[in-house]
Amino acid sequence: MTTRILFVCLGNICRSPAAEGVLRHHAPTLEIDSAGTGRWHVGDPPYGPMQAAARARGYDLSDLRARQFKPGDFDAFDLILAMDTDNLHQIEAMRPSGNATPVELFMRYAPGAGFDHVPDPYYTGDFDGALDLIEQASSGLLAAL
Ligand code: 4NP
Repeated sequence: MTTRILFVCLGNICRSPAAEGVLRHHAPTLEIDSAGTGRWHVGDPPYGPMQAAARARGYDLSDLRARQFKPGDFDAFDLILAMDTDNLHQIEAMRPSGNATPVELFMRYAPGAGFDHVPDPYYTGDFDGALDLIEQASSGLLAAL
């Protein structure tokens, strides 16, 4: 069964904590976490504009703190979902030998959305657009579990 799901982005302060908050809101019994491939923001709460955009839709991200993705995450989770292909490649480069945990692009669960990745709102400034994609993919993921 797929009950432990890890979302991964670059900084772990925008896209992956938003996905964590959205999915937890809709599926409180799943074990959900998020991490970043980078280490710049370790220990930080989600970026203020991301928190505000999420809060406006009913998602409270204030308790989340950034951490860095680590090889042990392959055993700790049943499914690892990357926000973009760069994240995916960074994750795959750390896969322990013999491990078969699926690592997928999150947006594969929203095939009609027109994106294979979630554009990084830290750079685009489009926090609502990111949340739109994350909500669509979360809904598709829940239907696929
Ligand atoms: P995220 O966005 O990967 O969606 O959390 C980023 C936030 C911060 C940085 C990069 C991406 N940064 O380099 O500081």
